[in-house]
Amino acid sequence: MGRTAEFIPIYDPRPQTQALEDGLLAAAARVIRSGRCVLGEEVAEFEAAVAGYLGVPHAIGVNSGSDALTIALAALGIGPGDEVITTPFTFIATAEAISRLGGRPRFADIDPDTCNLSADAVAAVLGRRTRCILTVHLFGAAADMDALGALAAEAGVPLVEDVAQAFGARWDGRRLGSHGTLGAFSFYPTKNLGGFGDGGLITTHDAALAERCRQLRNHGSRGDGVHVQLGFNSRLDALQAALLRVKLPQVDAWNAERRRLARRYHELLQGLANLRLPPADDSERHVWQQYTVRVPAAWRDRIYARLHEAGIGAMIYYPRPLHRQAPVRRTAVRLPEAERAAAEVLSLPIWPGLPAAAQERVATVLAAVLEDAAGRGAAAG
Ligand SMILES: Cc1ncc(COP(=O)(O)O)c(C=O)c1O
Repeated sequence: MGRTAEFIPIYDPRPQTQALEDGLLAAAARVIRSGRCVLGEEVAEFEAAVAGYLGVPHAIGVNSGSDALTIALAALGIGPGDEVITTPFTFIATAEAISRLGGRPRFADIDPDTCNLSADAVAAVLGRRTRCILTVHLFGAAADMDALGALAAEAGVPLVEDVAQAFGARWDGRRLGSHGTLGAFSFYPTKNLGGFGDGGLITTHDAALAERCRQLRNHGSRGDGVHVQLGFNSRLDALQAALLRVKLPQVDAWNAERRRLARRYHELLQGLANLRLPPADDSERHVWQQYTVRVPAAWRDRIYARLHEAGIGAMIYYPRPLHRQAPVRRTAVRLPEAERAAAEVLSLPIWPGLPAAAQERVATVLAAVLEDAAGRGAAAG
């Protein structure tokens, strides 16, 4: 299959940007003319807008999702030796935040259907040493907040939500990031609410934790030149805040479009042999940051290469679970569902504005590549 048609990237922010170009340019000009580039009114106004949207009293802008996680955990007092239960099947930032503070990620296995942290697996490792549960809403799908919330409450430990991939999704009517003790969001450009550079946010209902996060993002400063703790340089830029505020009112429509695209993938791909689709979920619990299918492990890398040859920017999120990644490795631990998922997953292009014809091409090429792989498998067998 030659590279004849235009490349279809895993993500393309340009349709969103084009639709809002006038507003974005006006917001950028306002910030540039203001002379105030970091924090300030723009950030405060964005924080108020996003807090209203998410249904939380406190939202604290920081300069990445990674920092949002680290600062949230630091605000809870997570430090050397503290055990935090989390998922092995996520971007490394989730566990890195724990380890950066000297804590110990305790990996529990995932649910094989959703790839989210399994509450049963959490229950099995929850113990006296547990200081916190850090769950991720992977690929845009809400983790089971009822089960995880109950486990955290029973153990008397905080539940932190990594909402980097699920901006705008709801659980039980309320937005993700408003359920746990703290929520951590990323505005990395590929996210459902993406900025034009790095950015992040922490949410909480707890005023004291919010104040600690505000201090931590700015070198532990109380705001009057007095530093009350060691902190970070993690202030949100005024430019990002202003641009994100222009995009925020559109996010529900974009998430609805992602849902429609996911439905269409289901229609186009259902019934194909050797292909496992993600569980269909047309509810507000899922905002489809990724549309991730599973294929036989032995063929996955070849299928990925063939898709790229055909101009389709599939991605492998994530090829290696975190308990097998050097910086946070747990040699003795076996987490079979996470290991299987890492060997089988393949994410397909999904973004607001993805043309119908492009999506159909993804499905047609994937079907042909799968059939070809099956033929080769049979010939080899
Ligand atoms: C699940 C998850 N957590 C944390 C992060 C880190 O966010 P950032 O890239 O803004 O630091 C990401 C970003 O890719 C992510 O996907």
